[in-house]
Amino acid sequence: MSSRSDAEALDRADQLSHLRSRFELPGGLIYLDGNSLGPLPVGVRERLADVVEVQWGRDLIQSWNTPAWSGLPARVGARVARLIGAPEDTVIVGDSTTVQIFKLLVAAARLRPDRRVLVSDPDNFPTDSYVVASVARLTGLELRWCDPAEVAASLDESVAVVELSHVDYRTGRLYDAAEITAAAHAAGAVVLWDLCHSAGAVPVDLDAWDADLAVGCGYKYLNGGPGAPAFVYVHRRWHDALDQPITGWMGHLAPFALERDYRPAPGVAQMLAGTPPILSMSALDAALDAFDGVSITDIRAKSLALTDYFTSLAEERLSAYGVSVEVPRAHEERGSQVCLRHPGAYGLVQALIARGVVGDFRDPDYARFGFTPLYLRFVDVWDAIDHMADVLNSRGWDAPE
Ligand SMILES: Cc1ncc(COP(=O)(O)O)c(C=O)c1O
Repeated sequence: MSSRSDAEALDRADQLSHLRSRFELPGGLIYLDGNSLGPLPVGVRERLADVVEVQWGRDLIQSWNTPAWSGLPARVGARVARLIGAPEDTVIVGDSTTVQIFKLLVAAARLRPDRRVLVSDPDNFPTDSYVVASVARLTGLELRWCDPAEVAASLDESVAVVELSHVDYRTGRLYDAAEITAAAHAAGAVVLWDLCHSAGAVPVDLDAWDADLAVGCGYKYLNGGPGAPAFVYVHRRWHDALDQPITGWMGHLAPFALERDYRPAPGVAQMLAGTPPILSMSALDAALDAFDGVSITDIRAKSLALTDYFTSLAEERLSAYGVSVEVPRAHEERGSQVCLRHPGAYGLVQALIARGVVGDFRDPDYARFGFTPLYLRFVDVWDAIDHMADVLNSRGWDAPE
């Protein structure tokens, strides 16, 4: 039988434990929802105060002529690039993930004008599926649903584009992106990866995967705050051929020349559309300081240790209450989250939130917990499971409230 002192010993040995001080975490809270919205990193508050009071409040329009605002999308993109194994000039930050997916999907379809099929996962995050279906209608492509674990069976010479998530938002299943990309390329298709649940949490090596296109959000493991802008990645081989559909002035070769006709900016800069959201982009920029000097390899090692620990404690202490632990057992198939399935999962999550243990609920019976190695401790895992055992034992998940 394990004990809390085991968790304390794991924390003492943790090489990343000092990183917790890079976040403003509310006292007494065990935050297992960083895969939905990361907490507030130290430094963001001060940066935003400067942007509001000085850059906007005092300097007004002049700030567009300073490095603080001009070039911010590319600078933040370059910082994200380091976390996802991409060259700095292939990533830029801008709109929401949903809008970025739309732009890249249409652009991808235009790269394969002679093909007629768009392949995607029906269990992907809904925004992906909604946009995939809309783009299929818009471009005249036929939509072919596939299980990412068996994507090869859906590939043939008719496939223009494959759109998939690297990590499944519900099950936490991590797919072999290099293998899938190679299979899609062998069939002549272009691949778009959604990295929302991997960027900043699991190793992503777009260069080594030979990936074509990718998107990912700024507010989960990157901790950029609610509605933080998403990033896009475009492999250099597509920089000249790319033709994205939202041809706004900020993606123009010479935005301030105010020409009548559109001419794309070179490289990934053409993925910009309208005026960049400077407030939220500045917050994301400051948030990325939390990754300074930290290797993704170390983050991954701690993430796996946390999810292993959570899984073994959940099996030891919760299975007697009808809880099943849904996590890919093989490390190479695991993201940075674990789901517990229970008929009362909704009530369980609510009862835990009332106790200061924050996870989230996903239909139909998933209680989902995300593990962010930058600030989570092993004692947090121990305490969270202890609360869960107590809620299940007292049937707190079945309480009217
Ligand atoms: C895999 C995935 N893609 C896309 C989104 C939505 O992104 P956005 O709201 O930034 O458009 C989410 C949100 O949770 C997600 O999990």
